[in-house]
Amino acid sequence: MESLLSEVVSYVLRESGDDISKYDNSFLLKSLEKRITAKGVHSKEEYLSLLISSKEECLALNESLSICYSEFFRNSLTFAYLEKLILPSLFSSKYKLKQKEVRIWSAACASGQEAYSLAILCEELIETSTSPLSYRIIATDIDPEQVEKAEKGVYSTDLVGNVNLKRLHNYFVKHGSNYIISKQIKNRVFVSQFDLLSKDAYCPPSSIFGDFDIVFCCNLLFYFKPFYRKSILKKITKCISADAYLVTGETERAFMLEFGFTEVFPNSAIFQMTKKEK
Ligand SMILES: C[S@@+](CC[C@H](N)C(=O)[O-])C[C@H]1O[C@@H](n2cnc3c(N)ncnc32)[C@H](O)[C@@H]1O
Repeated sequence: MESLLSEVVSYVLRESGDDISKYDNSFLLKSLEKRITAKGVHSKEEYLSLLISSKEECLALNESLSICYSEFFRNSLTFAYLEKLILPSLFSSKYKLKQKEVRIWSAACASGQEAYSLAILCEELIETSTSPLSYRIIATDIDPEQVEKAEKGVYSTDLVGNVNLKRLHNYFVKHGSNYIISKQIKNRVFVSQFDLLSKDAYCPPSSIFGDFDIVFCCNLLFYFKPFYRKSILKKITKCISADAYLVTGETERAFMLEFGFTEVFPNSAIFQMTKKEK
């Protein structure tokens, strides 16, 4: 399978200009196996010939590498820590320091559920808080289709399964069988396209200067080879404040510990930069 992999990587690069060698080998192999099964071919050689003869298959393979699944309040433990501990303390300390706003970045936002979940938590906090600071959420993704979906903020009933009735009532507008994110929430979330691997900018231009208090980079790192994971994490560390929190997916905790971040609560997938000894 490994030799097929390198032939496929070279072919896709020649044919489409996309360098899929950035993806982790085990992810690439699983995706290839799925395409081989889907096309009903009997050998890897047969699949390679099919790929070379069919532009559609090259496209299909590329598309199968783009995983955009997301959920509202995905990883309930992470969101519980944010709701009960991190956000209240962050809003209160920034308010006391007379700072302008809390700044959050959802760095691979897919169709927006992560960014809107965070906005709902901030909104609920402000409504009951004695430190009613403003907040801004920057939501970015490399995929223009996902960016468009996130901008629209329209979700079918099955996609809002994790949202409780009170939140559905307060922060969504029901339209036929869909739920649309309310204007109150939408006005706080700024969606744009941004490639975390691009060498052109260290933070999303829509954020102007970064300085984020919280960055979500969830369920993305594990698709990439270590070099690319590091490059994404290096980029993120350039645009966070000194005490910022970085949140990943549960299965990505090991990468963060390896990179030298400290986990704030056990098994939480919420990290801070490790403070250097003086
Ligand atoms: C599995 S989704 C994760 C969505 C959300 N963060 C979550 O955890 O529910 C991964 C997202 O990463 C985006 N992505 C992939 N490569 C990227 C890159 N280089 N820069 C920014 N986003 C990227 C994909 O388009 C996809 O929407």
